[in-house]
Amino acid sequence: MPEVSRIAAATVAAVASGASLNEQIPQALATLGVGSRQRAALQDTIYGTLRWGVRLDAMLGRLLTQPDTAPALRALLQVGLYRLFYGNLPAHTVVNLLVEAAPPSRKGFVNAVLRNALRRREALEALADATASTRLSYPLWWVDAVTSAYGADAEAALTAGNQHPPFTLRVNVRRMPVSDYLTWLEDAGIAARHLGGEAVRLKKPMPVDDLPGFADGLVSVQDWAAQWSADLLDARPGQRVLDACAAPGGKAAHLAERLDLDLLALEVDPARLHRARDTFTRLGLDVRTRCGDAAAPDTWWDSKPFDRILVDLPCSGSGVVRRHPDIKWLRQPGDVAGFAAQQRRILDALWPLLAPGGRLLMVTCSIFPEENRQQAQDFARRHANARPVALDHPALRDGQALPSSDHDGFFYAAFVKVPAGG
Ligand SMILES: C[S@@+](CC[C@H](N)C(=O)[O-])C[C@H]1O[C@@H](n2cnc3c(N)ncnc32)[C@H](O)[C@@H]1O
Repeated sequence: MPEVSRIAAATVAAVASGASLNEQIPQALATLGVGSRQRAALQDTIYGTLRWGVRLDAMLGRLLTQPDTAPALRALLQVGLYRLFYGNLPAHTVVNLLVEAAPPSRKGFVNAVLRNALRRREALEALADATASTRLSYPLWWVDAVTSAYGADAEAALTAGNQHPPFTLRVNVRRMPVSDYLTWLEDAGIAARHLGGEAVRLKKPMPVDDLPGFADGLVSVQDWAAQWSADLLDARPGQRVLDACAAPGGKAAHLAERLDLDLLALEVDPARLHRARDTFTRLGLDVRTRCGDAAAPDTWWDSKPFDRILVDLPCSGSGVVRRHPDIKWLRQPGDVAGFAAQQRRILDALWPLLAPGGRLLMVTCSIFPEENRQQAQDFARRHANARPVALDHPALRDGQALPSSDHDGFFYAAFVKVPAGG
């Protein structure tokens, strides 16, 4: 059906002009129609075209004689190249579908470009393989930042960022032991593996509504690396805990599933806070919620110190790019410094709220050191009473986990507040 290519191209063009995929995907699926058998193909085409966009664009640059091709047509050709080179339909079918999807006056042009691409495929692939940026399909500044941070490990991290993400669940241990849920999955014929703690990885992703016990709050979808926060925060029963950047509520819910806590989930965005509340309700958890800015505690804090603060900072999202491939298109080099400045404001504003002897855990889903290691080091330098805690976790090196087949890219750093005179 030409609809898949047409809707995918409209979505890619919207992202190219600055729209976020999270907003675009529901619209795209709605355009296709409820229950359409083409939904999986549409999602794959959109995600794949965005994921491989830098590479496809390099090829397109060689195929087009007029580089200023209109954005909508350019997006259609990117979709065409993705479906030709990464899809599973025969090449002639793809060309026909894309020609059908093209506006009447551009059908001949689309046909010519795609047929030319097929004829010159080998040369185009060689051209795209010539630089790390076009081979791995990331902006050059991104490849440079990751390479200078991780050297020989950079290639594996960037490659993992192009793979289909693992589909990992978190069992609500307030409701059921992990072993019982694994048995339930087995009985339902759903292949799964226990990763550790409450994390269970399914062999194949599935709609959440089809997950056994999802509606009844027995299980949630959450990446394994995100689940490490519950160990690393090291909270104890009854403690007063703040989750300062809480929505959509995954990490706060995990804490509340494990322990009885006096837990406050703070979130600046009212719509996202609403989602977190829905999550807590579905899971049957008692979590207080508050809409507020973590960087301005005087607007929401009751002056009682917290024993633990979890702060899952806004960041570039470079560690979860395989789940949000639009990030590759939307982020600009200067954005990382912008996130780092925002993080610094939040961290500095929250530190006075921590009780002496208490622990603050900083988290990002980024792999850029400016938002991670450097941010943590600068924080410790600014606060003489912040003692960094060595985090003992097999997957963390200096607090950093790079994306792998089992988990996303995350960074963790913890600080204990040294009591005065301590
Ligand atoms: C990485 S997400 C948190 C994910 C969440 N911890 C979870 O596990 O589900 C960061 C959240 O921080 C929120 N945020 C950003 N700036 C904030 C601020 N100044 N105060 C409070 N929340 C903020 C964002 O709206 C976003 O929902």
